[in-house]
Amino acid sequence: MRKKLIAANWKMYKTPTEAREYIAAFLPQVRDHRRDDIVLCPTFVCIPAVVAALGESSIGVGGQDVSWEKEGPYTGEVSAHMLRAVGCSHVIIGHSERRQLFGETDDAVNRKLKISLTSGLQPIVCVGEVLAEREAGLTEDVLRRQCGIAFRDISGLEAVPLVVAYEPVWAIGTGKTATPEMAADAHSVIRTEAAKAFGDQVAQNLRILYGGSVKPENATALMSQPEIDGALVGGASLDPQSFARIVKY
Ligand code: PGA
Repeated sequence: MRKKLIAANWKMYKTPTEAREYIAAFLPQVRDHRRDDIVLCPTFVCIPAVVAALGESSIGVGGQDVSWEKEGPYTGEVSAHMLRAVGCSHVIIGHSERRQLFGETDDAVNRKLKISLTSGLQPIVCVGEVLAEREAGLTEDVLRRQCGIAFRDISGLEAVPLVVAYEPVWAIGTGKTATPEMAADAHSVIRTEAAKAFGDQVAQNLRILYGGSVKPENATALMSQPEIDGALVGGASLDPQSFARIVKY
């Protein structure tokens, strides 16, 4: 059995003060929750506040992006080592907003994945098709390409901490969700690519999350699918009550 992981992607929302208020409201509701792993991904500037507010809790903290470089003259970038140093356990890589709005390529995702793994971060790599690709019957091709390049030159041993999030881009922030069948099909393509790259055992243990308009109202239906190993939640994670309801689906 793969333990599910429920991750909050706060995107570009919340100040450190708002983040502290969130944790004060969220923590009491999930303090005894052991069934699933929980991770919060705030903006870089909120990470120290979130780490401090979480204290000894087992909830993980993740960055929303990371540089592929170790260090150097790269204005605006944040390294994997720095994320570790401020208490991050996880990092989101290749979110569709980064791919679509900031020109992130499959090759960049691969480089970011490698440095995250060697730095001891648990990466959550996002893949998924846009609406035009789904309508053209290209979903499988897109997932194969995104995973094939992302997983390049990484050994099975190195890939053990990897998590993948299947996020159909047409479902992000739109209120639309993939049907359980669509998610199951996509997850099986991703698992096949993982098996090719990392071997069967690592692929069987790989957690594949679903993301795209996950809400308290649909969390139970999605999370009860055996192929769905958790959720990456955007909009509905911004409110502590709503995210706690998703965690406790
Ligand atoms: P959403 O975002 O839950 O608001 O659809 C998911 C994501 O972008 O990770």
